[in-house]
Order: sequence, then structure tokens, then C-alpha cells
Amino acid sequence: MSVVTVDGPRRFTGRLRVPGDKSISHRALMLAALGNRPCTVRGLSDGEDVADTRRAVEALGARVEEGSGGDAATVTITGGLTGADAPIYLGNSGTGIRLLAGLVAGFDFTTTLDGDDSIRSRPMDRIIAPLSAMGASVQGQGAGGTRAPLTIRGGGLRGIEYTLPVASAQVKGAVLLAGLRAEGPTTVRESVATRAHTEEMLAAAGVRVQREGHSVTVWPGEVTPPDVEVPGDPSQAAFWLVGACLAPNSDLTVENVYLGQARGGFVKVLARMGADITADRSSGDVRARTGELAATRVTAEELPGCIDEVPILAVAAAAAHGVTVFEGIAELRVKETDRVAAITGLLDSLGVRGRVHGNALEVDGAGSAEKFRPGTVACRGDHRMAMAAAIAGAAGGGSVTIEGFDATRTSYPGFAADLSRVTGWAP
Ligand code: S3P
Repeated sequence: MSVVTVDGPRRFTGRLRVPGDKSISHRALMLAALGNRPCTVRGLSDGEDVADTRRAVEALGARVEEGSGGDAATVTITGGLTGADAPIYLGNSGTGIRLLAGLVAGFDFTTTLDGDDSIRSRPMDRIIAPLSAMGASVQGQGAGGTRAPLTIRGGGLRGIEYTLPVASAQVKGAVLLAGLRAEGPTTVRESVATRAHTEEMLAAAGVRVQREGHSVTVWPGEVTPPDVEVPGDPSQAAFWLVGACLAPNSDLTVENVYLGQARGGFVKVLARMGADITADRSSGDVRARTGELAATRVTAEELPGCIDEVPILAVAAAAAHGVTVFEGIAELRVKETDRVAAITGLLDSLGVRGRVHGNALEVDGAGSAEKFRPGTVACRGDHRMAMAAAIAGAAGGGSVTIEGFDATRTSYPGFAADLSRVTGWAP
């Protein structure tokens, strides 16, 4: 386990690009694997999650070639799935395993999908129920058969109308991907808008997609994937931008950030807190500068739009004046780790009080990151907790020791190098 100490306060300055968006990267690989033409994806996320999805589509029969010069961020994929002869390992990736379950459910072969201990503990009933209703046989293990590994016998699906019991783009995506090879249309309804990558990318691949309010319908059909330029991942950009808001004399721009449906929510939350943050929607440049923050209330309605940013927004809340409330936090308990527990643990080590009241997390802001105390954080194998803790260390007045820092490899292998570039920190 790697242990790293990040001390502060440091200035966050300059311009940078973050890895390609993880959600788009997974889907680009999967749609290309279903595709009827070779398709080139540029700017793929270089994290382990996406590398696992790449290996998965290869194991299922797609061909993936790297761009000239061995550039792993540029790949050309030739689709055509025949089935895998061994269990497929999706590592730490909830998006990988859930979307792929929907994808293979359309095929008349048997696939076993597995992952690490975190994946094996996360709920899979949320995809087992709709995929089974469509006619797939999905066998899980443990906890009433609701955990990975999942063995899926697909084919012969029928379209369904499905209302999501939880706000989850992974479940929506799994059902829509299965719908591509079902008989008749498949409709997914959600009560709160979640990220729209699956439906947007399916439409761009020539699939008939109809969006009406909070419902999406797909019709089965050919997938003709266009080449894809993956924009920067807003969830990764959020770390640097919060750092620049909290740290002294900072001015930082993250370039080429994706700001589509249910992904730019953290910018709105920070702006409401009084942050000096601006987003240029045409270039995707987002700039943040040092400023005082005031507490806010993040409603259950808006939480899905910043679900992955709650760990770093909690660090912002810890530096704000007043009590910030995050409502509707239940889904955070079933992420890479129980993030409610992980966030209160991080706050505690910074000397900031965080409380859970029913379905809400309250953070008593210290008024300034300078007041953060030195501490040690166990990031429990969770990449976002490792990065949130590192930013608290670099922006704040204490130093933070992070146990298990190498979890950053899941989504951002270059995080430590970028931290050095942006703040001058040396490991
Ligand atoms: C994702 C959806 C979200 C998010 C995850 C990526 C996606 O999960 O937390 O990191 O790409 O669809 P849920 O859909 O389970 O909320």
C-alpha cells in the first residue's frame, strides 16, 4: 500500500488537461465493440477502469489496436462479439461491469463478469431485475444472488418499459444497451436526470432514440459508431478547481472539460457558494481563483448531477463559512466504498465536524482551508477519496498523509505528476 504526504498551503496555478472522460470512454469502447464499422477513439481515459473495459471487449471478440507510437489514448476498434471463454475481470469498475452486463445480455452466449472485492460487495440487483425482465438469465452470488460474479446467458430479449428505482446512469445504460438487441422498443424512465452519455452516443451511432422529459426509448438496430474525441473528465477537473478555490493566491484553468447533462453540477454548486469560477461552454475551459466560500444546500434533486464530486465538494464545504448540507446521499454508500463513512472520516482527520442526519450529510465549515489540521486518511481503495484528501492537503494549512494513494490509478494515473505541476508539491 502506498503512503503519500501532501503538505500545504500551496498555490494552484497554470493550465492543465485532465484524462479523457471515464463515462464516455467506457461507452465509446462498448459501442465500437457492437459497431458495424471500425471506429477510432482519441483521448481515452488512461485509468485502470477503462483499461479493464478495453480488455473486456477484446475478450468478447472485438479487435482493439493502439494508435501509432503506442499511444494508448488513441485506439481503433473493430466490432464483432463472439463470446469470451473465461470470466471477464472488470477490476474496480461499477460502470464497466453494469454496462457490460447490459451489452452481453443481448447475445446468445454465456458471459461471467467479475471484479475486485469492492465490485463483489456492490449491489447488482439493480441490473439483474431489469435484464431478467427482458428475458436474460442473470445469476449472481451471495446476498440473495445480488453480487458479482455475475453469469449472464443472453439472447431472445424483449423490450420493456422500466422505471429506475434509483437514480443511476449505469442502470439506465445497461437497460438501453440490452434494448439494442431486444424485440420491440425499450423505455427507461428516471425521476431525476442522470448523465445522458448512453442515449447521446447511441443516437450519434445511428440508433433510433427518443428522449421525452425524463424518459428515453431505444429501438433495436445497427450500431454505426462515429469516431470519438473524448473530452476531459469533469469529475477529475473538479479536484483542481476546488483546490484553486481554497488555496491562497491561486488561478487555474482546466481545459476541454465535458460539461453536458448531469456532469457540470459541481460548477453550479461552487458558484452558489460564492466561488470565483467560470465555465466557457464552447471551449470547455473552466477557470477558478481563490475566494471565500459560503455554505450551501445541495438538494437530493441536484445530487445525481454531482454524485462523483461529493468527496471534493465536501472538502470545499469544510473550508466554507457555515453548515453545508448534502441531501439524498444514500447512493454514496454503495460507491467504490461507503463514501458517506469515508467523507466523515476525511473531515474528521482535517479537524472538521461532519454529521449524518437521516439521508443528509452536514458539514460544519471551518471558514478557511488554512484551519485544516494535519491528519492521516485511509482511502479504502477509493480513487476519489485519495484525490480529495490530497487536494485538502495541498490547499489547506495542515498536511495530509494518504494511505493507499495508488488507488488514483483507477481513474487518474497522472494525478501525482499533475499535483506537482500545478502546486510544486514533490512526493
Ligand atoms: C456513471 C454513473 C454513476 C457514477 C459513475 C459513472 C456512468 O454511477 O457514479 O462513476 O458512467 O454511468 P451510478 O449510475 O450508479 O450513479
